[in-house]
Order: sequence, then structure tokens, then C-alpha cells
Amino acid sequence: MSEVHLLEHPLIQHKLTHMRKKGTSTAGFRRLLSEISLLMGYEVTRDMSVEYLDIDTPLAEMRAPILVGKKIALISVLRAGQGLLEGLLELIPLAKVGHVGLYRDPVTLDAIEYYFKLPEQMSDRDCLVVDPMLATGHSATAAVERIKETNPKSIKFLCLLAAPPGIQYFHEQHPDVPLYTAAIDPELNEKGYIVPGLGDAGDRLYGTA
Ligand code: URA
Repeated sequence: MSEVHLLEHPLIQHKLTHMRKKGTSTAGFRRLLSEISLLMGYEVTRDMSVEYLDIDTPLAEMRAPILVGKKIALISVLRAGQGLLEGLLELIPLAKVGHVGLYRDPVTLDAIEYYFKLPEQMSDRDCLVVDPMLATGHSATAAVERIKETNPKSIKFLCLLAAPPGIQYFHEQHPDVPLYTAAIDPELNEKGYIVPGLGDAGDRLYGTA
């Protein structure tokens, strides 16, 4: 299977360009990420399930579609995932939210878990896992592995930027999980950062560089 969906909408690309610029302020970066998450959310939710509700318009009765929002779990990989989560929650306010805390071992670049909290009844839920940077793919892969232990109905992974080694590693481990990204950059540097990328997404989001 191994699907990669490149979200090339011009508005997403325009905002991403401003996020990449090193002179963009923390406040600007945060606002742009929130705006992009709304646009990406629109694409990622395209095939989400709807159910039908009997309603009255001012003129007539009708059966109208609504999202099965309570069955959706948005799962943020801390801490940069929070930047994507906030916009998505505005789009799908009924979604339940989970968090996976991982840090990268600076030497091995392996993902080490320090926090894990998901909503109940995961087997009923379509999950959207969010983390802006798919670099080596180690954190994304580890996060999805843990989430799979809860037996969710489905999983998609949403990032802003991905690099080929991360995509390859992720899909070797999780060929059943589709990836959504706004761009695929050519490479990683020796510290595992995406190049040209946008730097450390968490630091840029929270001004902690
Ligand atoms: N994490 C980041 O924040 N940036 C990268 O380029 C890679 C991983």
C-alpha cells in the first residue's frame, strides 16, 4: 500500500515558504502553522465518515450529513505536534485528543517515550497522528507502533515536511498507514534535520531556540 499524499495546494505552499524563512517570528510561525493545519485538515478529512441527521431548514425537513466527530482521535506527537493539533481541533471540535511524548536520543536518533495518553475506545476511532517533521521517521514510527497497540479502527499520519529516508523507514514499518505531507525535501543533515527544511519545528513554534 504505502501511500504518500503530497498536499500541493498553493495556499499551503505559500504559507510553508513563509514558515521556512529564518526571519519569520515565533508568533508568525505559530500563526502560519495553525493556518496550514486548517488547510491540510480539509484535505486529510476528505474521506471521513458521515452520518445522517433529520433536521428542519426554515423551508423543509431533510436528512443532512454530519461528521461522525466523536469517533475521531487526533493524536499529537509532542511537542511540535501541538502546532498542527490546534488548527485541526478548530475544524473538528468533537474529536478526542491523545498525546504521545517522545524525544530523540541525540546520539542514536532513536525515539524514547516519556508520555502516552490516548482516548478510550480506540478500536472505534479513526486516528489522525500529527507531527510536523518526518525526518528520520523514528519518532513517527515509534508513535504509530504504540498507538497500534490500542487497536484503532484506522490511522493516518499528517506532517508538514518529510524527507525520503523518513518516508522509507516509516513505510517499511507501517505500510498500512497513509502519509500526508505538504512537501518532500531532498535530504537530512548529520544531526537528522530536514534540509532545506525549516529548522527545529518545536523551537520555532515556542521560541526556545
Ligand atoms: N525535527 C525538527 O524539528 N526539524 C527537523 O528538521 C527534523 C526533526
